[in-house]
Amino acid sequence: MLKSTIQKLSCPARSKGKSCHGALRLDGEGSREEVVYGSLECTRCGSRYPILEGVAIVVPDPGEYLLTHVKGISKFVPDSQIPSDYRDEFSEQRESLEAEAAEHIEEDLESDRVNALYLMNHYLGYEGSPEEWWKSVPASESPEITEWIQRYWDRGPFRTVSAWIEPGKNVLELGCGVGGLCRRLRGTAAEYLGIDSSFHSILLARHLNLGAPYRGELRFPGDLLFGNLSCEFTLPIERGGIHADGPAFADFIVGEIDALPLPSARFDVTVSMNAIDMLHEPKILPAEQFRLAKPGGVAIQTGPYIWHDRIAKGIRGRMPKGVSDSASAVEWMYRVSGFEIEKTDPHVPWLFFKHLRQIELYSVHALCAKKPN
Ligand SMILES: C[S@@+](CC[C@H](N)C(=O)[O-])C[C@H]1O[C@@H](n2cnc3c(N)ncnc32)[C@H](O)[C@@H]1O
Ligand SMILES: [Zn+2]
Repeated sequence: MLKSTIQKLSCPARSKGKSCHGALRLDGEGSREEVVYGSLECTRCGSRYPILEGVAIVVPDPGEYLLTHVKGISKFVPDSQIPSDYRDEFSEQRESLEAEAAEHIEEDLESDRVNALYLMNHYLGYEGSPEEWWKSVPASESPEITEWIQRYWDRGPFRTVSAWIEPGKNVLELGCGVGGLCRRLRGTAAEYLGIDSSFHSILLARHLNLGAPYRGELRFPGDLLFGNLSCEFTLPIERGGIHADGPAFADFIVGEIDALPLPSARFDVTVSMNAIDMLHEPKILPAEQFRLAKPGGVAIQTGPYIWHDRIAKGIRGRMPKGVSDSASAVEWMYRVSGFEIEKTDPHVPWLFFKHLRQIELYSVHALCAKKPN
């Protein structure tokens, strides 16, 4: 993480239902702006948060996070760098996962494939792409898939959301995934901070937007005859922040939307794309966006609203008369949190290229709401 990011964070530890929100400081000093390994310490309650391979893990229970993400983290972080309190348990779990590795091949392929789909979605364009990446084997080009890509690829949520963000703003993105919005805002936004609960996504986002090293390969699917991920992902990597002099534009950390490590009323714009339907308690998202916005600040939210039945039931149980679908239910949640809805787009196309014989189209609802002055 960049040292300049630390002052933007606060302690997410909880006690008796309340968050600490004490200031954090870096434990230990290094001369470089980028901290690759180290830890943050709360100046109020003393809680500690590890920084592993450049990724700060600022969640209420970092031990539990490490032990439930052993597989993803151990691909990139040696055991010797895991905080000593959890190291033995972490190593034991890593060893037992390795012993069962053959049983998990399917799961690993699925998680690599999902990451690849998001990388394409976030970083490859139709217009201005160096090559026609979806035609990896020109002989098997589908005219229909090419037509869909020409028609929808560049009209997705990134375009709608970046058009709603005015220049010069201080932007926070919640559930940022692999960080493609950051690249679109470079040069127009004043600052950007991305938060996601996925260690791997934050590693990729920092690699592609800050030039942080990444030990894995970047590939995406083409013709499955040549493998699950048969095409190379070629893209210029931004070198800002870690390598450039001067103030950093962006950084990314691991955090949880329901326990954000951020003090109140600091952001002009908070964005969350396609994450509300993954939360156990969706109303926490607008409530947190309201807490984090400066007076007059803006919240942007998009979603395909693929609710789990249990969560949908919870929303239905509370919604007032007149709320008749997911989009109006989410707009109602933003109003109840205190926002005034300013703009909506009922159907933004969101295309996922699965391989050269499969493409998936979602329709996303988008809203832009203001916190009154
Ligand atoms: C469907 S993906 C969307 C990613 C990206 N915003 C986009 O639109 O392409 C949802 C993202 O939310 C993240 N996420 C889910 N629950 C979260 C939580 N409680 N806290 C932080 N991030 C979360 C996931 O790790 C994932 O990256
Ligand atoms: Zn604290």
